This record gives sequence, C-alpha cells and structure tokens, in this order.
Amino acid sequence: MSENIHVLYSEEQVNARIRELGAAVSAALNGEPVHLICILKGASFFACELAKRITVPVYMDFMCVSSYGNGTESSGEVRIVKDLDAPVEGEHVLIAEDIIDSGNTLHFLLDEFQKRGAADVRICALLSKPGRRQVEVPADYIGYVIPDVFVVGYGLDYAQKYRNLPYIGVIDELILP
Ligand code: IMP
Ligand code: MG
Repeated sequence: MSENIHVLYSEEQVNARIRELGAAVSAALNGEPVHLICILKGASFFACELAKRITVPVYMDFMCVSSYGNGTESSGEVRIVKDLDAPVEGEHVLIAEDIIDSGNTLHFLLDEFQKRGAADVRICALLSKPGRRQVEVPADYIGYVIPDVFVVGYGLDYAQKYRNLPYIGVIDELILP
C-alpha cells in the first residue's frame, strides 16, 4: 500500500533553517570543538547538513538507540544498539536528533552523556512535537515545532519507508494509536 504525502517543509526551507541552526550552534561554541552525535538512522540527513553549517571543528560520531515498543508508539525504555566510537569525557557534546516526540530517547541520552563526563550536552532537534511529551527534555535548538502529525522524509521514516524524501512531509489520513 502506498500513502499520500503532502509537503510540510520544502527542501529549500529545511536547508535554510538548518543553516540558521548551524550559525546559532557555532556562535554558542565560541571557537571550541564539538562532538556532534548523530542519532541513527533518522537524524542522519539532518546531522550531515548541520555539520556542514557549523564553523567550529566538528568530530562526528554516531549512535543507534531503540526504544522498545512497536510501530509509531514509543515505550519508556531505551537501549543502545550501536555505541559511539570515541569517549565524550570533557568534550562539548551536541546531540543531533530528527524529532522529539515522547522525549524518552533524549532524556536517556542526556543522562547517558552526562554520566560519561561530557563538559556539556546540548540538544539540537530538527522537529519537536510538544503535544506528545511524556518526559520534559531541555532542547537548546529546534528547527520546527509541529502539531501531533506523523512526518516523514529528510531522514524520518514510516516503517522504514520515505527517509530519502528530500523534504519533510505528512502522511495523509494516517491514524496513530
Ligand atoms: P521519542 O523517544 O518518543 O522522543 O522518540 C523519538 C523517535 O521517534 C524519533 O527519533 C523518531 O525515530 C520517532 N518518531 C517520532 N515521531 C515521528 C514521526 O512523526 N515520524 C517519524 N518518526 C517519528
Ligand atoms: Mg529515530
């Protein structure tokens, strides 16, 4: 079955917004290097575009986490599927995430990097759905605040489909649990 998708933010709009985020991130870092942590798979497109717009030295690392549960609903439990290559102790950490939904993933990661002794941990999310929050997350940079709709594209998937759409789209008539 294929879904109807309409454009929420065009590729041009998203790239322009990421350019702004990159400038804000860079200004706050004041010339100091940053460990940019891309949360796989969803944040991969966003993290790469963001990295290109950051003007301080960037060390890119990748982590894959999964929240137990099925389909479109998150459970509170998060586990690490693929860990970072390098320690973050004493480093400025910037987490690049595709979307903050329940908040469980970033709540877990923030705590994890703090435990590992990062100098500081900032969060940069392309999208946020505050209406779905189960736990509050202090997000430093957010691309767009959106209502409770299911979005795909620019790295975001629906059952692993549509990640490669160059824009952020909404699936029409998708009923969420
Ligand atoms: P959280 O732990 O509930 O905040 O989960 C965030 C994760 O849920 C994201 O990294 C996405 O993988 C997934 N997610 C939440 N909302 C959407 C959506 O609208 N489209 C695609 N994936 C989503
Ligand atoms: Mg994800």
